[in-house]
This record gives sequence, C-alpha cells and structure tokens, in this order.
Amino acid sequence: MITPDTIEKIMEAARIEEVVGDFVTLRRRGVNLIGLCPFHNEKTPSFTVSAPKGIFKCFGCGKGGNAVNFLMEHEQYSYPEALRYLAGKYNIEIDEEKPTPEQQQALDEKESLFNLTGFAQKYFEEQLHNSDEGKSVALTYLKERGFTLETIKKFNLGYCSNKWDDFSQTAIKNGYKQEYLIKTSLSKTKDKLLYDTFRGRVVFPIHNLSGRVLGFGARIMTGEKNRPKYINSAESEIYHKSKSLYGLYQAKSAIVSQDNCYLVEGYTDVISLYQAGITNVIATSGTALTTDQIKMIRRYTPNVTLLFDGDTAGIKAAFRGIDMILEEALNVRLVLFPEGEDPDSYARNFRPAEVAAFIKDQTRDFISFKTELLLEETKNDPIKKAALIKEIAQTIALVPEAITRSLYLQKCSELMQVEESLMVAEINRLRRQKWRENNKNADFGEEPLKTFSKPQAAAKQDIHKTNNDYQEKELIRLMLQYGDQELEFEVENEDKRIEKIHVALGRFIVDDIQADELKFDNPVCQKIFTTYANNSSEEKQADPKLFTRHEDDEIRSLAIDLLSSQHLLSKNWEKRHKIYVIEEEENLKPRALQAIYAFKLKKLEQMINENQKRIKEISASTPLDEDQLRSLLEANRDYQVKRKMFAFALKRVVTK
Ligand code: UTP
Ligand code: MN
Repeated sequence: MITPDTIEKIMEAARIEEVVGDFVTLRRRGVNLIGLCPFHNEKTPSFTVSAPKGIFKCFGCGKGGNAVNFLMEHEQYSYPEALRYLAGKYNIEIDEEKPTPEQQQALDEKESLFNLTGFAQKYFEEQLHNSDEGKSVALTYLKERGFTLETIKKFNLGYCSNKWDDFSQTAIKNGYKQEYLIKTSLSKTKDKLLYDTFRGRVVFPIHNLSGRVLGFGARIMTGEKNRPKYINSAESEIYHKSKSLYGLYQAKSAIVSQDNCYLVEGYTDVISLYQAGITNVIATSGTALTTDQIKMIRRYTPNVTLLFDGDTAGIKAAFRGIDMILEEALNVRLVLFPEGEDPDSYARNFRPAEVAAFIKDQTRDFISFKTELLLEETKNDPIKKAALIKEIAQTIALVPEAITRSLYLQKCSELMQVEESLMVAEINRLRRQKWRENNKNADFGEEPLKTFSKPQAAAKQDIHKTNNDYQEKELIRLMLQYGDQELEFEVENEDKRIEKIHVALGRFIVDDIQADELKFDNPVCQKIFTTYANNSSEEKQADPKLFTRHEDDEIRSLAIDLLSSQHLLSKNWEKRHKIYVIEEEENLKPRALQAIYAFKLKKLEQMINENQKRIKEISASTPLDEDQLRSLLEANRDYQVKRKMFAFALKRVVTK
C-alpha cells in the first residue's frame, strides 16, 4: 500500500499536460491545451487539458479527470499502477506501508478465489484429456462438434465428471476452502453435502485479460430439453458478467491487428470461428450486451461487427446492440446468417475460405442493414415507410460525432430516397429533444432568465440524478472556481458609518447557506458542500484540488465537470467566451448573490408545495384541527412573502 504522503507527493509533482502529452499531441489554445481525444474517434479536437486546474476533459465523449484518471483510462492501469507510473516518471520514491488487516483480507480473498478457479481449470482439463470418462464421453463430444485438439487446448476446455462430488473433494483435499468453492459457484450444497455444480458437463473457462479464470460456462452433452443447456458461474467478487467478454483474452491481439472485432452470441460460435481462422472474435456470455463491455472493446478497436442468427430473436438483439454501440461512438457493422445457421454451424458446414468470403460479402453497415431488412415490409406503404425513416433517424441521432452522423445521413437518404434536408431536420429535432431531456433543469427561478454555463450536451450526466439541481450545482461551481476571491460589502458600523468589508466568496456562500440550515437535494453537492465547509477557514478556502483528486468517483467527476464547464475550457476559445469569463470574474458578487437567491427560491418553492399539500390534507380531515390549519396557513403566508422578496432580489441582481 502506497502511503498517503507519497500519494500527495506524486499528485503534486504530476503535470497533467506532461502526463497526457506522452500519449496525445497537444497544442496550445488560449489558456488550455487541446488535442484529438484518445478515447473516441474524432477528426477535430475536443479534448482539452487545463494545466492550472490539473484536469482534462473531452467535450466530444464527456470523459474527464486528473492525471491518475487519465492513466487508468488510457493505459488500463489500476489506481496503484497509475501512481507507480507517475512516481517513476517524476523520480519520486515510494513509501509503502503494510495493508490493514481488512485490506489484506479483501486482497487475500480475491487471490484465493483466483487460485481456486485456476486449480479448477487445470483439474477439468486433466479430466477431459486423461480420465476414461472424460476421454470417452466429453472429448468425443467436442471432437464430434468439430473442435480440434489444438482448439480445445487453446480455449482450455475441460470436463467435470458425472460423479456427485469428485471435483469438490479433490479441491478440499488440496487445501481449498469450502467457503471459496461456494463463492465461485464451483460447488453447491444439498442437505449440507457438497456437490459439483458442473458435474457431467463440458466446461468453458472464462478468462480475464491477463488469462486468469473468472468463471465457467458448462454445457450438457446431449440435446435434451428438460435440463438447462448451460450452467454458468454466478456473479462473484472476481466475476462480473457485465464486465467480461468471452474470448477476449485469446482474441485481443488479433482485434488490434485487424482493427475490428466480431461479436457473436455463444461460446461455441467463438471457438468455431477461431478455428476457421477468424480469430478476432468474442461473445457476451449469456447476457445482453452492456455499455461496460462496449467500453472494453473500445480499448482495442473502434470497429465492431455483430454476427447474428437470421431469426427474429437474433435480429432484435442486433437492433439493440446497434444503438448501444453507436451511443458509445464506435462504428458498427453487421452480418446476418441464413435462417437456421449460426456462426458455429456455418463454420462447421463450410471451409474456412468460404466462411471468410461469406462474412466479407454479407457485412453491412447498420443503415443498409436496417433499411434492407425493413424495406421489404414497408414496400409501397408510405405510412410504414415514414415510420421506418423515423426509426432510422432515431438511430442516427445517437451517433455523437457530427461528421459520422452526416455520412450516415447521406447514405440513408439515398437508400430510402428521401431528401437529405428532411432527414437533417428530423435528426436535429431528435437531438434537440434529447438535449432538452438531459438539461431540462437548467431553468432559473420563476422566469427564463439568462443562464450561464449550460451543461455540456454531449457530456454524460448520469451522476446528476437528482432533478432540479441546476441551482445547487451553480453554487458549488462558484465555490470551487472562485472560492478565494474577495467580495466587497458595505456595512454600517457602530458609529453608523458605512464601512467596507471583504469576504471570500466561498466563505460567504458557506455562511449564508449554513445560517439558514439549508440542505442540498443532490447528495453529491451536499457532500462537496460539507467537505468544503470543513476544510475552509476565515483566511483560506478549501482547495478545489481536494475535489478534483477526491477518491470518491461521484465527487471527483462532478467537481471536474463543474470546473470544466463550456465557457471555461471551451474548445472554441472564441472572443465571446473570453469576454464571458472576464465578465464573470468582474461580476462575482452579483453572480454569487444570484446563485444564492436562485437556490433559496427553489428551496422556498419546495417548502410552499409541501406546506400546501399539508393544508389540503388537514382541511380534508375530520375533525378539523383548526390550530394546525391556522399555523400552516400562517407559514404559507410567510413563505409567500419571502418568495416574493427573493424573486425580486433575484431579478434585481440579474438585470443590474
Ligand atoms: P446458444 O444456445 O446459441 O449456445 O446460446 P451455444 O454456445 O451456441 O451452444 P450450442 O451451439 O448449442 O452448443 C448462446 C449463449 O447463451 C448462453 C451461453 O452463453 C451460450 O453460449 N446460454 C444459452 C446460457 O447461458 N444458458 C443456456 O441454457 C443457453
Ligand atoms: Mn450454437
């Protein structure tokens, strides 16, 4: 474990522009540096690095973070690996301390689970190749399916004997704990007796990127219908289905060298294609494709080709996959196999050259795929055709990058024979609609006043789950960005003379919000606020780096998001943005007041709503509790007066 002191030293030494600069070519633009984003495909730079803030942010894909986050994302380092890398780069000696017993235990437990799954893989392989039962039943089955010995070994296929607890007992004898046998779902208990989960099945180990075994899929060797065809390992501390891809360990270098990745449905599809020479192939193991899996693929290539059965279920799954992949800014193409065939059967029925030729001929981009498939149904039916155009427009609207979008658009208007301008209009409408949905809380008090720092449309907003938290974020943004800047106030002193006092903006906001005992609805905003207050004093306000380097992901990403709002790190560092920032800095006092009033107004409105609800409830109850009703009505009047006051004050600062 690296000591906090060392971490601090590393963080202080790391210059974001140097760390990123080792991987991305950066150019200066205004106070920032920009370059082509390494995390998504782009032709014009939206990737921005702010040296003074120590952060990077991509306005195309929304990724952002500090130097360590960059290395973790770009180099797939773990947190300690990223720190070690930086320590090496900046010649910092690492102080290590012994892990706490809890940390050690968590490490030990993962390690123990991996040791056990590794042992199990070897045991199952041994059984398959060397036991009588394995050879006669399982090896024969796999060979009948057309797998060669070389392939079987490449994928470490194995066999779990049909005896009740053969494997479990061997594992116990070799010192593996029952607890871990259960946690890896290699064994189950029935009436306190341990038995083998995968007994009588061929097993397909699922590997992580470094080849360690995460879990298993296990298939029966018959076509019977009354038992599940596959039994899979359950989720565990080492196996997360939504974050693993079957075959990626074997396929990763081929995926990089071919700059494309074939995605199929099943274990056997992967193996058969691999054997037919198509080695850049992977599968989701028994789950629908997830965003995390798409992100894993993106580390190796931006190109995915989905290979699916030509049946309805296959087509449906393909449609879902297309939209998800496009949203993550990857390119997606498709191959549909003839009805009744899947990649596995096709690879068995045809020679490798024929398989390759078939895939090459049948590869479609998603527009042609959708139109060709659906155009059949919509022939000569203008209403259905219009619906189809809308459906395709919806998919195109998901593509984050404008240039790619316009290429798809051209293609679609050609195929569908509709005017491109109509498609453009529809897609723009959809994107605006989506943008509004993402930003619908950007209103400010009662009337639409001029807003500043609109959240980025493309940036992912999933951490901002609470509704109506725009005001809250604006307050936090000002505190993080200008916390130490002084505001000037005029106060009357004891001799009735007007005196000028200076208060730091951060202090001013903290005091004001705390005086009214107001709480933030957004839990992340509340956490930042509390931490800020606890780390500030009369003289010195909390350092924003405390948040941009925070270990809590939610706190860190919100802080980075707020500090990199469009106007501050814009890729189009145009005149008006410069003017904007200068203007904001020179008008900090009205900005702060505006943010406070808007926040309080919102809070008051919430209180009014709740109060009125109570009034309704009380008025409807019998017997009528007059006292309570009276006090609620009084509170209501009080709130209304305050609300008017804040609305008035807000309008005044804004229009001043
Ligand atoms: P398939 O039924 O296509 O399996 O299901 P397959 O691997 O191609 O097997 P064969 O060709 O019949 O031998 C696709 C995937 O869905 C999951 C497995 O991951 C499988 O590879 N699956 C299927 C299960 O998890 N459980 C099942 O009962 C069936
Ligand atoms: Mn199959």
